[in-house]
Amino acid sequence: MTETTTNAMWGGRFAAGPDAIMEAINASIGFDKRLAKQDIEGSRAHAAMLAATGILSDSDAEAIREGLLTVLSEIEAGTFRFSTALEDIHMNVEARLKEVIGEPAGRLHTGRSRNDQVATDFRLWVRDQVDAAIAGLEALMRALLVQAEAGADWVMPGFTHLQTAQPVTWGHHMMAYVEMFARDRSRFSDARTRMNECPLGAAALAGTSFPIDREMTARALGFDRPAANSLDAVSDRDFALEFLAAASICAMHLSRFAEELVIWSSAQFRFVRLSDRFSTGSSIMPQKKNPDAAELIRAKIGRIFGANVALMTVMKGLPLAYSKDMQEDKEQVFDAADTLMLALAAMEGMVRDMSANREALEAAAGSGFSTATDLADWLVRVLGLPFREAHHVTGSLVAMAEAGGVDLPDLTLEQMRSVHPGITADIFEVLGVHNSVASRMSYGGTAPAQVRAQIARWKEQLP
Ligand code: ARG
Repeated sequence: MTETTTNAMWGGRFAAGPDAIMEAINASIGFDKRLAKQDIEGSRAHAAMLAATGILSDSDAEAIREGLLTVLSEIEAGTFRFSTALEDIHMNVEARLKEVIGEPAGRLHTGRSRNDQVATDFRLWVRDQVDAAIAGLEALMRALLVQAEAGADWVMPGFTHLQTAQPVTWGHHMMAYVEMFARDRSRFSDARTRMNECPLGAAALAGTSFPIDREMTARALGFDRPAANSLDAVSDRDFALEFLAAASICAMHLSRFAEELVIWSSAQFRFVRLSDRFSTGSSIMPQKKNPDAAELIRAKIGRIFGANVALMTVMKGLPLAYSKDMQEDKEQVFDAADTLMLALAAMEGMVRDMSANREALEAAAGSGFSTATDLADWLVRVLGLPFREAHHVTGSLVAMAEAGGVDLPDLTLEQMRSVHPGITADIFEVLGVHNSVASRMSYGGTAPAQVRAQIARWKEQLP
């Protein structure tokens, strides 16, 4: 007798059980218990198919399907005892099923393998996360639309290089993020379409000699079709990688927005006030209100990028078909998905609760010579100057204003005419920020009328 007992699932070939270290490196139950619901769903579909094809008796299949529901209820109630010796969720569930229903439990694994089983479970889990990400993005887009609509014609500085560039509208800035998150949503939904093929029935790698019906299990689990190549079906983790890739780009967008909120909520900008519900105080400085949620979103997305790189690295050297390396897919994806859902929810809450400071936005919109381009355009339009010359004249006027410590609209007509004698008083009209934004009526431009048209389009498209 050896000290450790051999494994009940494959003990026939083994004289001794695993070393404790082997068990520690091998077991995945500590994390793949999160797949319990999907595992049982997949097994119930498989059992029903085995009965429909005459591979199992109806009574055995029925006992299995009922027994699996008992196991699921134990897991959901928290009374299930997970065993590391049983390695993973698949064997934990099967072993408990045996205790609950006896002999028929041993027939469940006919015509399948843990390789197609885990690929199926994980796909189902990732598919749910894709749906959750899409729902989270839509909620965030709706919150942005509310902000955009309230301030469709509020002026603020638009930046390039984080230097004042041209006045834009608050609504336009909010709608830029709607476009970004809409692309994220479409990336997730593209990935969903591609991932929705069922690996179940690929068995270990080569398919099976049992007359299984893969269409039936695919349909029962909500897949569009069975995966067409059994080798590919068990060794493919593209679905997880595509989820992580889409999540990474989405996370990058969230982080950029978080960065803006950190800047905007500072005392130097005062563009937005974040709600108390999404801020924290300082234990020493009583005046402080910190944008922690935004900072944490900005920081946490590193976990998502990390997961993407980690799983790409796991996969890149694997020959076909299944290798145990692939067990390392789950923790990364679980953590990335948790992080993404939390970041989306936190961002949605912040956007919903925040108030834009219209006065501060407007004051900043006019500073920094933000209408210099409007001035140059006027010289082109009204005086017929070539744009390059207009640019030069405007540059001289900016230098003059800067030297005098004033903004462009504060220069006198005489001062302007000393730089170019053709300038007339109506130039002052284009130096106002409201006229500036209203004039940018090109499609997709910042004019309030354009912004309102985009808001209306999105309100119609969003569920
Ligand atoms: N726990 C394993 C995983 O997550 C299940 C598949 C194991 N298959 C095998 N042949 N060892 O990948």
